[in-house]
Amino acid sequence: MRVKKAVFPVAGLGTRFLPATKSTPKEMLPLIDKPLVQYVVEEAVASGIEQILFVTGRGKRAIEDHFDHAFELESLLEGKGKAAELCLVREIAEMAKIFFVRQKQALGLGHAILCAKEFVGSEPFAVLLGDDIIDAPTPCLAQLLDVYESYRAPVLALEKVPMVSISSYGCVRANQLSERIYEVLDLVEKPAIIDAPSDLAIIGRYILTPGIFPILEDQAPGKGGEIQLTDALLRLSKQESIFGRQFEGIRHDCGDKLGFLKATVDMALKRDEFNGSFEEFLRLRLCR
Ligand code: G1P
Repeated sequence: MRVKKAVFPVAGLGTRFLPATKSTPKEMLPLIDKPLVQYVVEEAVASGIEQILFVTGRGKRAIEDHFDHAFELESLLEGKGKAAELCLVREIAEMAKIFFVRQKQALGLGHAILCAKEFVGSEPFAVLLGDDIIDAPTPCLAQLLDVYESYRAPVLALEKVPMVSISSYGCVRANQLSERIYEVLDLVEKPAIIDAPSDLAIIGRYILTPGIFPILEDQAPGKGGEIQLTDALLRLSKQESIFGRQFEGIRHDCGDKLGFLKATVDMALKRDEFNGSFEEFLRLRLCR
């Protein structure tokens, strides 16, 4: 069965970006001129996803508005003959079929995924976390789907990270099957460095199977008192094989201020519209 559905957990409060996120969802913070969440939706759509479920919470209405038509704005742009801008704004509302469900309590990532149970039904599905923006020639999710096609089993995006930062991630012990493909043997959510089974971190892209739902339903709270997806995946791995794909591409951790800044600079350096002037500005600054 082809993977057509994706789940985006977006209920988080974004406290690391206060006060910017006091009344704006962190997913709507722009990298140059596009909200973070749109980069991730574009990656999903480019990978063949047709239906997207946002698992939202209070104060996330701006995400709903962003992926809807904005009639006033559209007719204004039409009236002014701004065809390019009009197209840009309209396209967003037509990218995919979008659905919303509320995560009424902040009980963790595993709980957020459980809120997608009815939407998912009996199909395999993707999960994309909006903090991870991945710049890759082949979309990261499409790279995972490739592995799914071969094994018809859950697939996690993996990246080797410096050991000093392994405690910020879900970490796996895995058996390397080929250059970038692994079979996952063990998973630990945010381990202390000494307990980490490897330097392979789980990055925010997953292909999951509905077998995860009965496990999530009775998953006890783990790290931070939250229902962790990683803990449920460990239990799932006892029932069916789970694979990992060390993706090709550059990941920006936009859940963190420094990562967000680096992503902004990287994206700006790639934009033709600045015509080298941003690079020149950076050079001058660094020489001061
Ligand atoms: C979540 C997951 C973690 C994963 C990370 C990737 O953590 O729980 O396993 O490594 O996303 O970004 P979070 O960063 O939401 O705390």
